[in-house]
Amino acid sequence: MAGKGRVFGLGLLLWGLALAPAWALAEASVASPDGRIAVRVFADGGRALYEVRFKGVLVLEPSRLGLEFRSLPNLSQKVAVEAIGEDTVDQRWEQPWGERRQMREHYNELAVALVRKAEPGLRLHVRFRVFDDGIGFRYEMPEQGGVSQVAVMADWSEFVLAERESTEALFINGEMWNRYEHIYQWAPVSAVDTAATPISMRRKDGIHLSIHEAALVDWAGFILVRRGLHGALRAKLAPWSDGVAVKTRLPFKSSWRTVQIADSATGLLNSSLILNLNEPNKLGDVSWVKPGKYTGVWWEMHLQDYTWGSGARHGATTARAKGRIDFAAEHGFDGVLVEGWNQGWDGNWLENGAIFSFTQSYPDFDLAAVAAYGAERGVKLVGHHETSGDVENYRRQMAAAYDLYEEHGVAQVKTGYVAWAQELVRFDERGFKRGEWHDGQYAVGEYLRSVTEAAKRKIAINTHEPVKDTGLRRTYPNWITREGARGQEFNSAPSGVKNPPEHNANLVYTRMLSGPMDFTPGIFDLQYEGRTTTPVASTLMHQLALYVALYSPIQMVPDYPEHYARYPDAFQFIVDVPTDWEESIALAGEMGEYAVFARRVRGGDDWYLGAIGGAEAQAVDIPLSFLDPDARYDAQIYRDGPEAHWRDKPFDYLIEEKKLRAEDRFQARLAPGGGFAVRLVKR
Ligand code: NOJ
Ligand code: CA
Repeated sequence: MAGKGRVFGLGLLLWGLALAPAWALAEASVASPDGRIAVRVFADGGRALYEVRFKGVLVLEPSRLGLEFRSLPNLSQKVAVEAIGEDTVDQRWEQPWGERRQMREHYNELAVALVRKAEPGLRLHVRFRVFDDGIGFRYEMPEQGGVSQVAVMADWSEFVLAERESTEALFINGEMWNRYEHIYQWAPVSAVDTAATPISMRRKDGIHLSIHEAALVDWAGFILVRRGLHGALRAKLAPWSDGVAVKTRLPFKSSWRTVQIADSATGLLNSSLILNLNEPNKLGDVSWVKPGKYTGVWWEMHLQDYTWGSGARHGATTARAKGRIDFAAEHGFDGVLVEGWNQGWDGNWLENGAIFSFTQSYPDFDLAAVAAYGAERGVKLVGHHETSGDVENYRRQMAAAYDLYEEHGVAQVKTGYVAWAQELVRFDERGFKRGEWHDGQYAVGEYLRSVTEAAKRKIAINTHEPVKDTGLRRTYPNWITREGARGQEFNSAPSGVKNPPEHNANLVYTRMLSGPMDFTPGIFDLQYEGRTTTPVASTLMHQLALYVALYSPIQMVPDYPEHYARYPDAFQFIVDVPTDWEESIALAGEMGEYAVFARRVRGGDDWYLGAIGGAEAQAVDIPLSFLDPDARYDAQIYRDGPEAHWRDKPFDYLIEEKKLRAEDRFQARLAPGGGFAVRLVKR
């Protein structure tokens, strides 16, 4: 390869000029604006390493950096480190919708080059950004002599946690058959074999860390795998079916590898690191992206009362959709999702990816009539596209499918990519069918294609069976929410493993660190009256609290209208709670045990509190010092009753009214699987 020769030729020349010997000694450091987080980058024995301290305490031991390529020398070994730049940024930006409006992006930056000693013309840059709430680093390869296409085979980024034996990690395994829809587990960091990110960790001294990824675009997502005897964790990129991790050309930028660092569990929740490492909004005016609540023709299919496919029990009929529109209009909900409206569901729909039509309705569903009926009542039809993993079939129909929805005023589409891991469909250059990972480079591109195509029609996307969230809502604010963990749907299963009582308190500290989740809170028929199935591991108050605790700008109201009608006083909270916030504060909590959030409504003065518990009861006592000190608030309190327990007393609850002020404290007991929700109306 001519280019390769040129690179090495230049390198040898530079080597000859005696630049090299000093490089091996190079070392560079960068600290967070508040000085508490410090990163040191250096080379040792030809390996580029970084280490991280928090308040002087070593939290990441020297950990390797670098990438390995197919036809270039390995840039994770035989390298020297050279500091090439520093920067400081302190800027404000606004989220068009979100858990908080005002954002501050404040970091110190350090860029280094990893330079091959034998071929010093070949270089890989690593850019570190150090914020007060954590660090990010990414790889960048500048254009250089003759190299154009590259195949990245491996990412050598390591995360060698200090105190690995005594640090507990909360995580799901990586590369799992059901993607990210697994039950969380705890293990000492030293015993973690594989982990999807975010993986969160609690040290004995109370320092909390979470490893994840930001701005995953045209790159492969990574999991963590254990490396060797001593429990070092290393990034592993989800490969294409041909074994290559990333196919790209110079210049390229990888996604950011991120480590959140905080003194407490709530410190992880109050971080904006992932968003701050993403690029600004590329869509311009996005006032058409509307947060809100939606109900739908959905839960009945999960309960198997109705079917997605056609026939006597077809759920998506014009009449049933209109019924849900009436329900939505009555309670002020913004949308109605209708699943199973389009041709292709008959038979085993999990295998129907190739035959789904995204423009042809079943004969008993009149798309135009339903959309018009909704429009008259101020309720939008929420679109639905299940691909069953055949993204090629979806891509072919995408433009027509989004055009059709646009024509009928549909402003949000829920997509689905139900396929086992490594089974997203791709036909290769020779026409052979391949199976790809949901977080590989191919899938990353397909998900983003859906988002950008939808944006052209002012449509927002809610992705189910997604790639993990890496904060791209900042850049593409129409990527409004997604699934990407075990959601409420797992609680419907007549057989099968339901979510355990601590599941949602686990989600808060793991999945939710990555971004909004379409969990679909608000099941009221928790014991499945008249059915032979185990109850949902939740009290009724926990279901209310989820609207505040599990952030999403669109929240579903999924249960049957008649189930909500059983508890109209509790249902009132779901009617009242907004989904878009001016500010959000995690007030108290511990990983997997409980979490208490306060959020102020976007553009208003009212606050909402939401607390969810885990398997054990929990006493909560929080100061209300975040309230306006000059104001009085009428509090509507929804809390677990003294006997409440998810197993046998989920409907023991109390609704109270109180006057509260900033100097007051709020106390409540969370039952096992419990929660509380409070609306604070400013007077
Ligand atoms: C999986 C989604 O998570 C669920 O919400 C949806 O109902 C089914 N796929 C069918 O598309
Ligand atoms: Ca799902």
